[in-house]
Amino acid sequence: MSSDILVESTKMDYSKDRPAAKNPVKVMDLTLRDGHQSLFATRGRTEDMIPVAELMDEVGFWALETWGGATFDTMHRFLNEDPWERIRTLKRYIKKTPFSMLLRAQNLVGYRNYADDVAEAFVDRAAANGMDIFRTFDALNDYRNFETVVKGIKKADKHFQGCICYSMTEPRMGGDVYNLDYYVAKAKELEAMGADSICVKDMAGLMAPYDAFTLFKALKETVKPPLHLHSHFTSGMAPMTHLKAIEAGVDIVDTCMSPYAYRTSHPAVEPMVMALLGTNRDTGFDINLLAQINEIFEKEIVPKYRHLLDDTKMSIIDINVLLHQTPGGMLSNLVNQLREMDALDKIDQVFAELPRVRKDLGQIPLVTPTSQIVGTQTVNNVLFDEDGERYKMITGQVKDLCYGLYGKTAVPINPEVQKKALKGYQRGEKPITCRPAEVLAPELEKAQEEIKDLAKDLDDELLYALYPVTGKRFLKWKYGLEEVPPEVKPRTLEDAKAEKEWLAKAKAGKLVERIEKTIPDMGDNLRKFNVLVDGEYFAVEVEDTGGPPAFSSVTQFPPRPAPAPQAPARVAQPVASKTAPPATVDDGGGTPLIAPMPGMIVGVEKKEGDQVNQGETILILEAMKMENALAAPVSGIIKKINLGVGDHVAKNDILCVIAP
Ligand code: CO
Repeated sequence: MSSDILVESTKMDYSKDRPAAKNPVKVMDLTLRDGHQSLFATRGRTEDMIPVAELMDEVGFWALETWGGATFDTMHRFLNEDPWERIRTLKRYIKKTPFSMLLRAQNLVGYRNYADDVAEAFVDRAAANGMDIFRTFDALNDYRNFETVVKGIKKADKHFQGCICYSMTEPRMGGDVYNLDYYVAKAKELEAMGADSICVKDMAGLMAPYDAFTLFKALKETVKPPLHLHSHFTSGMAPMTHLKAIEAGVDIVDTCMSPYAYRTSHPAVEPMVMALLGTNRDTGFDINLLAQINEIFEKEIVPKYRHLLDDTKMSIIDINVLLHQTPGGMLSNLVNQLREMDALDKIDQVFAELPRVRKDLGQIPLVTPTSQIVGTQTVNNVLFDEDGERYKMITGQVKDLCYGLYGKTAVPINPEVQKKALKGYQRGEKPITCRPAEVLAPELEKAQEEIKDLAKDLDDELLYALYPVTGKRFLKWKYGLEEVPPEVKPRTLEDAKAEKEWLAKAKAGKLVERIEKTIPDMGDNLRKFNVLVDGEYFAVEVEDTGGPPAFSSVTQFPPRPAPAPQAPARVAQPVASKTAPPATVDDGGGTPLIAPMPGMIVGVEKKEGDQVNQGETILILEAMKMENALAAPVSGIIKKINLGVGDHVAKNDILCVIAP
């Protein structure tokens, strides 16, 4: 009884008009959201979705995921696109298939919990702009964080899909925390909240096929709403996991069109359509139509994005996921972060530290934003902890988590870490136990007041409320108050073609490497020669720069003066370095505050001339989406602050100087 799948027909026109299956597997396509988010850093542009939009509407997908997740952030930050406009534009081409978005519950499409008034307005505007299905998840599976948005989804009469983030602490489903009982209990909670469907969200591709079978059998027997599986391919298991989940009775699965499938993305739709062909769970999809859509993707769209694909490895499977249960996206973040800090050699220490940090922080699932919170803190610990002192540089987000601002963790947070994190924490040193948003003061009116000169409607205001720095910059581009920088402009097919030709030349050995040399200033001894080599003419300039002459029997050259001693280079040392004390800069005295990592300044707490005590926060540096409070290395008076909010800094940049 391992399989309910029956082959009902062996002869059929597999492209269309074949007899409908009794219980077809429903499919949600993720190409236009999770597909390019997984493979192309969420850089997909609306103009590159339009060529396939009408055809994709014909396939018969249960829904198309078109919005949410990281799209809102990247669109306004990197693509100069109004995120709200994408929904409206795509709706003009896709009229039949419902749209789905990924909503991070009270985090909306950002990385922190927003106040209830912002959450209400956001859901209301997403629905009004055309969103139909709200796939909602909370990184901690704390469904108190669903309360506000679900009210809004229901009020707008839209589909509420509740997610359970799939997590594990053992190589297979089980253990003390994330076992079958845990998932069944979570599904019941969602059903009680009025979920129109329930999704198990396996963001790291950790779910093994036979665990999927056990899980979906149990869920099918326990709850009524349709069941949906979202499983990333990262580890390579997802197509097998899909099939076992289908055998166990899952109603809906997630796939991508094949050019956007596999690697850290999702299984492709086409092999699944063929695998189920003629069975009682046949999708009914027209394979010729899918092929037609793929051709457009391959020829017209993918060439513009290929350069974003990480294809440095031959394997499309990330073996580290199987070894460390680290989500693919998190892993690439960790690697990038270490590379930027010139510490890639510490990756093994990071892998060893990661489970310790996760356990200290309450064994939380690793999904946006908790994967970044745990990942960045792990890197901070590996780089900055000193013997005898752990958690030397705690990010603002870890402090928020310890305070309870993200919700209830799966197991209690390590009390020592919690106490250290909350020492001097602005909201208070005693953690909360209530629904997190209850302690958040309304934010919308304040944001509206701040942006009133730029924003023209509530959509603009929400963009600013969610992303104050980059949102404001986008609104300036949108209304022509600031020139749009070239790096946010689209890449054309011609750009891609030129690059391809260049690469082909390089591979054929027809590109000559130019060795970069600095040209010294030429002196009075410069002489010009006309030189012929093999019939080719060169103008050559030669300068005699001294040294013992070849023929010098008569004239004795005076000895060349010794070079003037060079000023010793000022080497800035990172404040938190294990080996070096804070460096002093010898321009009138003072101790520099040095950037311990590259990032963007998001807060300036002090101004020039302020008296500060050692340990007091001067600047907030955002690195890998986490905020780090940079404290005064010594007490004194701030002589100079070199930066403002929005400025990017490199590692070891001098951010300010404190005079004794
Ligand atoms: Co996903």
